[in-house]
Amino acid sequence: MSLQLAVILLLSITACQAPLTGGRDIRVRHGVVVSVDRYASEIGARVLRDGGNAVDAAVAVALAMAVTWPQAGNLGGGGFMLVAMADGRTAAIDYRETAPAAARADLFLNERGEVDEERANLGYWPAGVPGTVRGLEAALDLFGTKSFAELVQPALQLARHGFLVDDDLARALQEHAEDLKRFPETARVFFNRDGEPLRSGDILVQEELAISLETLAREGPAAFYEGRIAQLIAADMARSGALMTLEDLRSYRARVREPLRLVHEGYEILTMPPPSSGGVALAQALLMLGPAGIAEVRTDSAEFYHLVAESLRRVFADRAAYLGDPDFVDLPVDWLLSEAHVTELRGSIERGRASSSEQFGPPVSPPPEGEQTTHFSVVDAAGNAVANTTTLEEIFGAKVMVSGTGVLLNNELHDFNVKPGETTTKGRIGTRPNLVAPGKRPLSSMSPTIVRRDGETVFVTGSPGGRTIISTVVLTVLRVIVCGLDPAVATAAPRIHHQWQPDILRVEERLGPALREALQRLGHRLEVGTRQGDTQSIFVDRERGWRRGIADDRIDGWAAGY
Ligand code: DON
Repeated sequence: MSLQLAVILLLSITACQAPLTGGRDIRVRHGVVVSVDRYASEIGARVLRDGGNAVDAAVAVALAMAVTWPQAGNLGGGGFMLVAMADGRTAAIDYRETAPAAARADLFLNERGEVDEERANLGYWPAGVPGTVRGLEAALDLFGTKSFAELVQPALQLARHGFLVDDDLARALQEHAEDLKRFPETARVFFNRDGEPLRSGDILVQEELAISLETLAREGPAAFYEGRIAQLIAADMARSGALMTLEDLRSYRARVREPLRLVHEGYEILTMPPPSSGGVALAQALLMLGPAGIAEVRTDSAEFYHLVAESLRRVFADRAAYLGDPDFVDLPVDWLLSEAHVTELRGSIERGRASSSEQFGPPVSPPPEGEQTTHFSVVDAAGNAVANTTTLEEIFGAKVMVSGTGVLLNNELHDFNVKPGETTTKGRIGTRPNLVAPGKRPLSSMSPTIVRRDGETVFVTGSPGGRTIISTVVLTVLRVIVCGLDPAVATAAPRIHHQWQPDILRVEERLGPALREALQRLGHRLEVGTRQGDTQSIFVDRERGWRRGIADDRIDGWAAGY
């Protein structure tokens, strides 16, 4: 055996046995996973340590979170996985849900032409055809080194033997008990024998979900779209009178898209293209703010927040006017990111005064966003990277669990513009690009993002938070990449959100009174909220040779690596 081979063997044996490091802000030499859930992060880190790559780990993490983070982790939802391999290959895997073939633009309207809120939010009606299982399969087919059957095992064990309910899950079950209780199958799993939601420290066993995972391990992802699980979903749908059929499930396809790519000062920013609005929005904001000299503005000044808010106002006006599913609508993405358009938008920003949203279109007041979705990031020893954001739309999705499967359904169709043509101060966005149509994907804000330099990944990030995802990711990328802040400082720094309409600047309570007053003096109408999003990021420090996993302090996340 050559010396070189011996050294490689020794190193790989050492790596295999390396203990995992965990925490909220960790530095490791090899691979790291950051998610909101400790079980999931550790499962992912073990896959990495045992020789899997970042995509293998991402699949294991996503499956684990379908068990341990039912608020948003899922088999019955969808999401986006952005992949940047060390050999230069990239992909934006779109496993967004689709509208059933029978869905029309008036899906959520009653006989009087009003939105039926119940139908738009709860039960079988608002569920899009789930994309997660096909998405994970596509990721493995393209980049994986391990089988679906192998990667599903840790999730299966947790479903079958149980895991400890943590404070986050207990609180979420308590807060949403009324809605969850309406669906007996859901209540049976998440409530105890006295009909009370499980508490922190209780053990949650999900036998039906274990059977579903076992079926997936044995029969592969087709079980979800054609086999046992598909049959059970279609049967429940038919019983409830909702629209999704076996044929809808059978014809679902994940799409592999080109990431949206933006070059900024030597950095290559890869992010999610439509049907997410996130990538276009991030690119527009950076194109507006870079030449406006944001890198020279103190990041803790009112001027910084003012410029970011003004760019977001413009970005969100364009989002409502132009964006939707690219397979159904012609999207003017090149024009939206063109020098001419961005220069015009930038030119309309005044440094000393807030502008009015009405100058960018008629007033609109979008409905409030739910508070759950989840993002995780992975970088492996070879430098392959994954940014994955996944959702059931609202917390526990549509709250309904498909009989005999343990699978919670999403209420993603609610991300479409629910009332065609209605764009009012009290109402909602009713613009054409994001109306319901058969097989169409609803517009999303999820923005998984990977930044590279000289072809190597240097930063991976993303967040939940509905439309606020865009503002959170814009601020995070600005602070880390454009302004050069330490990534933990960038994560902890106060966040703001402007979405054009309503013309309100939402700020986190951690933004101090002096800054709030300064922003009000500039003419912004402020609304103070507790917290905005939670980024789960990885920063690769090429000089020191470490990978730093940073879980957001706003939620009890966990970084694990070796
Ligand atoms: O795709 C989207 O943009 C939304 N369905 C995400 C929902 C969300 O982030 C809810 N809150 N955290």
